[in-house]
Amino acid sequence: MNSPLSQVDAAGRLRHLVTLDGLPRTLLEELLARAETYASGPARTDALRGVTVANLFGEPSTRTRASFELAALRQGAEVVNLDNALSSRAKGETLLDTVYTLRALRVEVFVMRDGEPGVQEQVARAVDGEAAVVSAGEAHLSHPTQGLLDALTIRQAKGALDRVSVAIVGDIARSRVARSAHRALATLGVADIRIVAPRAMMPEAAEFAGARRFESLAEGIAGVDVVMMLRIQHERAGGGPVDLPAYHREFGLTAARLAGASPRAIVMHPGPMNRGVEIDAEVADGAQSVIRRQVANGLAVRMAVLAQVAETLRARAP
Ligand code: CP
Repeated sequence: MNSPLSQVDAAGRLRHLVTLDGLPRTLLEELLARAETYASGPARTDALRGVTVANLFGEPSTRTRASFELAALRQGAEVVNLDNALSSRAKGETLLDTVYTLRALRVEVFVMRDGEPGVQEQVARAVDGEAAVVSAGEAHLSHPTQGLLDALTIRQAKGALDRVSVAIVGDIARSRVARSAHRALATLGVADIRIVAPRAMMPEAAEFAGARRFESLAEGIAGVDVVMMLRIQHERAGGGPVDLPAYHREFGLTAARLAGASPRAIVMHPGPMNRGVEIDAEVADGAQSVIRRQVANGLAVRMAVLAQVAETLRARAP
């Protein structure tokens, strides 16, 4: 069995970002502080001048893909975008051969989304010491930059995270967003994390350590500071067909239901949203929504992560 991938070097610098699991709070704080400067200031740097970044997306994406590309371009990188389904992988080439081809073209940062668990780690091990891998979403398991941007958005709205209560609502079992949000928030000291879902969408008991579980939306969001809604992940295995009108009746966030949270609660959603299913349009577009702020913060967080892994690569260069 392989030893765990070392995402951090001996000096504590970020080498790869495949998962938030195991990363220290100090490193997450450092990434958020850097992202905050990009979110609030002129968002152009030279941190990636001379670096080539490849975006390898094996699953659809709008927000993550666009923001990773902009995050690289705004820091001076050269960028290549490969849709795995259209690239040589579809002709039988292994993903590792595609990666070695891109390494021969001097790609140094691989931004990867894939529906197969373990792909990012496999590539990170293959290029370790020469190039960095940054996950843009791994199956149902992990979406680390989403977890960071969610934490940044909550911190901007609510200040110190240790006094915040957060309810994550929806298809938790199949959600990489929920897993990475939980990991980020738990590492950053949020004591009150709740997961709210129908029984069929609850994760295994061993997951989401420390989070309280609710099968009632009203009970789960009562008095909370943050309501994070999730899409139903129909495209992933597990779970049967969902009766959408019934789901909306029980778990859809309406203005009336939101009134049960704190009066100053913020509403989050990673996108893409299904209006009228997990969230009503008047809530998604309402005064408590920070959904577009999340998208903007995605760019800032991805700039910070790319800058950090590029700095680590430079520090290792002979
Ligand atoms: N939140 C998120 O990952 O959105 P995309 O699938 O559009 O990238």
